[in-house]
Amino acid sequence: MTTSSTTPLLSVRNLRVALQTSHGQLEALRGVDFEMQRGDTLGLIGESGCGKSLTALAIMGLLPDRATVSGSIELNGTELTPMSDEALCSLRGARMAMIFQEPMTALNPLHPIWKQIAEPLQLHQGMDLATAKARALELLDRVQLPRARERLDNYPHQLSGGQRQRVMISIALACQPDILIADEPTTALDVTVQKEVLALIRQLVAEDGMGLLLISHDLGLMRDQVERVMVMYGGAVVESAPTQELFGMRAHPYTQGLFAARPKLGLKRGTRLQTIAGNVPEIFNWPLGCAFAERCAYVQDSCRLTLPQLERVPNTGRVKVSQRADLSAPFAEHWVRCPEWEKLEALK
Ligand SMILES: Nc1ncnc2c1ncn2[C@@H]1O[C@H](COP(=O)(O)OP(=O)(O)O)[C@@H](O)[C@H]1O
Ligand SMILES: [Mg+2]
Repeated sequence: MTTSSTTPLLSVRNLRVALQTSHGQLEALRGVDFEMQRGDTLGLIGESGCGKSLTALAIMGLLPDRATVSGSIELNGTELTPMSDEALCSLRGARMAMIFQEPMTALNPLHPIWKQIAEPLQLHQGMDLATAKARALELLDRVQLPRARERLDNYPHQLSGGQRQRVMISIALACQPDILIADEPTTALDVTVQKEVLALIRQLVAEDGMGLLLISHDLGLMRDQVERVMVMYGGAVVESAPTQELFGMRAHPYTQGLFAARPKLGLKRGTRLQTIAGNVPEIFNWPLGCAFAERCAYVQDSCRLTLPQLERVPNTGRVKVSQRADLSAPFAEHWVRCPEWEKLEALK
C-alpha cells in the first residue's frame, strides 16, 4: 500500500452501523463522514445515546458481534471495514488506541499495572519481559504517575480514579499510535482531576503529533482541547466546524440547545439550567427525517421526512439550509439566532 502526503490519516465515509435488537435490525449510525490528518484534534459531542461511542467502536473494530457495518473506514489509505479480527487486533494498540470512560472496567483487576502496560509492547513490538517492564516505568513517568517505580506492582484497585486513567493512557501510548480515541476519558473523575488528565492528554498528543478524537457530552471541555468539533445527534453528524467558529455561532438548532444548556460561570445558586426539552429518541423510534425534529423550535413539515443539510456561509453569521432529498432546489438562506452575536449587537 502506497500512501501519499494527501492521504488522510483517518477517513470515515458514510459509516452505518445496524444492530440486532429485540425490535429487529436497527440502524444506530446513519451515515457518519469525517476525515483527520496527522496531528488533527477533533471533538465529537452530543447527548448520551447519539452514537458517539458506536462511532469510536466501529473505528476500533470493537463493535458487538450482532452489529453490521457498512461504508468505509480508511486508516492511512488502508480500508478497515472488511478486515479480519486478527488484522484489526494488530492495528489496535499499535496504530490506533482508545481510552475509555471507566478505567476500572478496562483494566484487568488481576494483573499488576506494569504487566498491563508491558503486554502491548510484547505483542506488537516483540519486546522481552525485562525491557517491556523498564519501558512500562518510563511510560508511567511520562503520564506523571506520582512515585511510579513504587507503583509498578500495584493492582488497579490500589490506585485512585485519576491514577487509573493515567495508567490507561500509558497503555494507549505504549506503541506510539497514530490516533488516540478518548471516549469520555474524564467523565468518571472529579473536576480538578479532570482538568489534569485533559491537560496531560493534550500535552502528549501534541508531543507525539498524534491525531486525537475526543468524545464528550460536555461542550465546555472541548473548547481548549480540540481544533474542530463535530456535533452528533440521532446517529449522524449534524454540524461540524472549527471550535472557535462554533463557539462564535451555532448553526444547528441542536447545537444551539447544547450551548444554552451549558452551565455558565457566575450563575446564581438555585437558578435552573436551561435544558433541551424532550429526550434523545431511542433507535427503534428514529424518524425518517431529522432525528431532532420532535425537539426543534424551528421544525418544518419537510424536516420530518428528509434530513435538512446545513452549510455555513463563512464570515457572515448565516447558514444555508437545504433538504437532502431535493438537491436541485435553491438553498434557502436565513439568519441564525446567535446569543453571542445578539449580545454584541445590543452593546453597539
Ligand atoms: N449493543 C447495543 N445494542 C443495542 N443498542 C445499542 C447498543 N449499543 C448502543 N446502542 C444504542 O445505539 C445508540 C447510540 O449509542 P452510543 O453510541 O453508545 O451513544 P453515545 O456514546 O453517544 O452515548 C443508543 O440509542 C444506544 O441505546
Ligand atoms: Mg458513549
